[in-house]
Amino acid sequence: MTSTLVHHFRPRGAAAEAMRYRGGEILLAGPAGTGKSRAALEKLHYICLLTPNVRALVMRKTAVSLTTSAIKTYESDVAVQALLDGTVTFFGGSRREPAQYRYSNGSSIALGGMDNPMKVMSTEYDVIFVQEATELEVDEWEALTTRLRNGVLSFQQLIADCNPQEPTHWLKLRCEAGQTLMLHSRHEDNPRYFNEDGTMTEQGVAYMAKLDALTGVRYLRLRKGIWAAAEGVIYEEFNPALHVIDRFEIPQDWRRVWSIDFGFVHPFVWGDWAVTPDGVPVLVNEIHKTQSLVEDHARMIRTHCGWGTIDPETGRERPYVGPEVTGWRHKKPSIIVCDHDAEDRATLERHLGIPSRPANKNVKDGLQVVAARFRPDARGRARLMFMRDAGIVRDLEREDAKKPSSTVAEIPGYVWNDKGKEEPMKIDDDGMDMTRYAVMEIDVQPRPRVRFMRS
Ligand SMILES: Nc1ncnc2c1ncn2[C@@H]1O[C@H](COP(=O)(O)OP(=O)(O)OP(=O)(O)O)[C@@H](O)[C@H]1O
Ligand SMILES: [Mg+2]
Repeated sequence: MTSTLVHHFRPRGAAAEAMRYRGGEILLAGPAGTGKSRAALEKLHYICLLTPNVRALVMRKTAVSLTTSAIKTYESDVAVQALLDGTVTFFGGSRREPAQYRYSNGSSIALGGMDNPMKVMSTEYDVIFVQEATELEVDEWEALTTRLRNGVLSFQQLIADCNPQEPTHWLKLRCEAGQTLMLHSRHEDNPRYFNEDGTMTEQGVAYMAKLDALTGVRYLRLRKGIWAAAEGVIYEEFNPALHVIDRFEIPQDWRRVWSIDFGFVHPFVWGDWAVTPDGVPVLVNEIHKTQSLVEDHARMIRTHCGWGTIDPETGRERPYVGPEVTGWRHKKPSIIVCDHDAEDRATLERHLGIPSRPANKNVKDGLQVVAARFRPDARGRARLMFMRDAGIVRDLEREDAKKPSSTVAEIPGYVWNDKGKEEPMKIDDDGMDMTRYAVMEIDVQPRPRVRFMRS
């Protein structure tokens, strides 16, 4: 008995064009939620179902970010039926092979991240989908194109999608030079949010309301789909290729500074900075999250740093005995610099057992000191760095609202307010404040210390 696979997908506009296109490089660009990723994944799925032994690859800058984006869309919208009836099975990966979806006809879709490309880059493919391709460097893109030569299909293709970024982005320029075809994806193309007659669906009304609540350059890019430059950016020299780095083992003897900007409705931001022997601050861990209490954050920090974990010898939870406790996975900070809220500081100290100090909150000085750190040194090396995977907990609500959900994500939209280069716009700036406190602490000679003695 043969069963029939039934799957419904009706592409519109740019999505329909992308399904048909057979050229070498194609970019679906547009605001948030227009169906770009869905269209690309549908195409891969369709190709793999129809043709045996096709090798497809889904890539993103980091492998971990795929799990909450492409993999979710693939499993819950694209390959639902095929996964249920066994036409597609998931293989979790091995030492030699990447994680992949295997089709019963011998085709496969491998999954990978540019942060760990070895396993996927040693193979050849027929078609590759790069999600949020603007996150890549141009040489990473070019490396991917060299992998397109499996030759099972009559064409080879790199399909990419992205939200618009700055107008000078290399990928936009590549499209303008005619090397990549850019298709403009619109909200009206997505049947989930728009009916055929142009009216919004119920889900569409809710989704568009979220996008309408964005401000500044995020609004222009994610709501309107414009390749807009952020005007009045404060940290003009921020360059993700230089300042955002992959994780490396931090030597135990590097100084650690913790910095905190309190918040509940706005994000609470905790930054764990390691300082290199040359004095370069590196953001190693962070919490950037709304709607949690200080004590919950403190508990999260403790767990992450190795307290509150199970002692392998006794099987019991390791008791918290104070900052001198051994068994830290992460070096103890020499100081916590904090926002000034007295009550929050007291709660934090009580739960962490580490003293804190009010941060130097001089905005003007702080901005200058941080801006200077974004300037590379004479040999072009970064003087301020952020680990790509610093976040230890996700703020799903903020991600859902398309608001910055990490310190790095705030930087491109951190702009001066209307009064010129005097004050920053006070919106989505919580990680920026946290960074300012830390860099001031590290770079500026501390003021005379006053010690409060408890009698
Ligand atoms: N043709 C379609 N029919 C039904 N649902 C669709 C269609 N296209 C997209 N969707 C659904 O709309 C939602 C958003 O789509 P998708 O994630 O592909 O958008 P996107 O443009 O990649 O968004 P982002 O810019 O945020 O990455 C998903 O749930 C997706 O399954
Ligand atoms: Mg997408």
